[in-house]
Amino acid sequence: MESRIAKPFLKWAGGKTQLITEIEKSLPKDVVNGKFTYIEPFVGSGAVLFWMLEKFPNMEKAVINDINSDLINAYKIIASKPKELISILQIFQNEYHNLDGKNNEKKAYFYKKRELYNTRNEELSTQAALFIFLNRTCFNGLYRVNKNNGFNVPMGSYKKPTICDTENIFAVSNALQKVELLSGDYEQTLNHIDKKSLFYFDPPYKPLSNTSSFNAYAKDVFNDEEQIRLRNFCSKLNVLKHHWILSNSDVKGKDTNDNFFDEIYADFSISRVKARRSINANPEKRGELNELLITN
Ligand SMILES: C[S@@+](CC[C@H](N)C(=O)[O-])C[C@H]1O[C@@H](n2cnc3c(N)ncnc32)[C@H](O)[C@@H]1O
Repeated sequence: MESRIAKPFLKWAGGKTQLITEIEKSLPKDVVNGKFTYIEPFVGSGAVLFWMLEKFPNMEKAVINDINSDLINAYKIIASKPKELISILQIFQNEYHNLDGKNNEKKAYFYKKRELYNTRNEELSTQAALFIFLNRTCFNGLYRVNKNNGFNVPMGSYKKPTICDTENIFAVSNALQKVELLSGDYEQTLNHIDKKSLFYFDPPYKPLSNTSSFNAYAKDVFNDEEQIRLRNFCSKLNVLKHHWILSNSDVKGKDTNDNFFDEIYADFSISRVKARRSINANPEKRGELNELLITN
């Protein structure tokens, strides 16, 4: 049987599917046409990762990282125990679909699963299944936690969401076999590079307005100081002759006097591209917004 193309197994804020054509244009051809290592330090749902894995079978290895250890646990379980994960997800899916039309019971089921997830006491495969279940059933597929790392997104209004996409889990599991999975701060990826490495950075966006919640992925806020620490890391990679591509929101589109990224990345090449963001609770903010693609 021909295996299916692996695609992201999660909905994730800032999913990059729309930006891929632009990213493709800015790839360093000499690197991606040979043997290379691909590093994605803020992987999220991995839209670019899965595209790269498919497009460049010559890629020697990939290294992915995210500060969200529950997210990386889900990747690890898909990579190592896809069958076990599928059997748990199938149970969750049957139970949830059977409650369709019984709103109070459905709600009680969701919140019970959320509570169980937040204990973080279950086996790692169950934790991964709960993570995927919550992602598929919660409001807009958001991932938001409180100060104690408690997931607190309410139930979404999907009738019968796909909770167990068996074929894709097997495809992802297969694709992840040459991928090293790390969880922690992005700077640790530097310990995993060799001669020819290409980094793609998709950090939490600099918010376009004070009320924007785009950077609320993890407990720690990614503020301007953090954006500058990331620029310093990119400068270091540049000195070490590694290639990188970085995306972020175009704050200048909102306020023409805001030169934050133009200034901090003045030594590099900045292009402005259109991108559609799929997750935003405020419908007025859905739709086309400019993004920055910065390369060295
Ligand atoms: C914009 S999202 C990436 C979206 C991804 N490109 C996709 O297609 O889904 C940013 C990610 O950075 C992670 N993150 C935040 N701070 C981090 C840090 N200091 N080191 C590593 N990852 C971090 C968040 O958990 C989140 O998953």
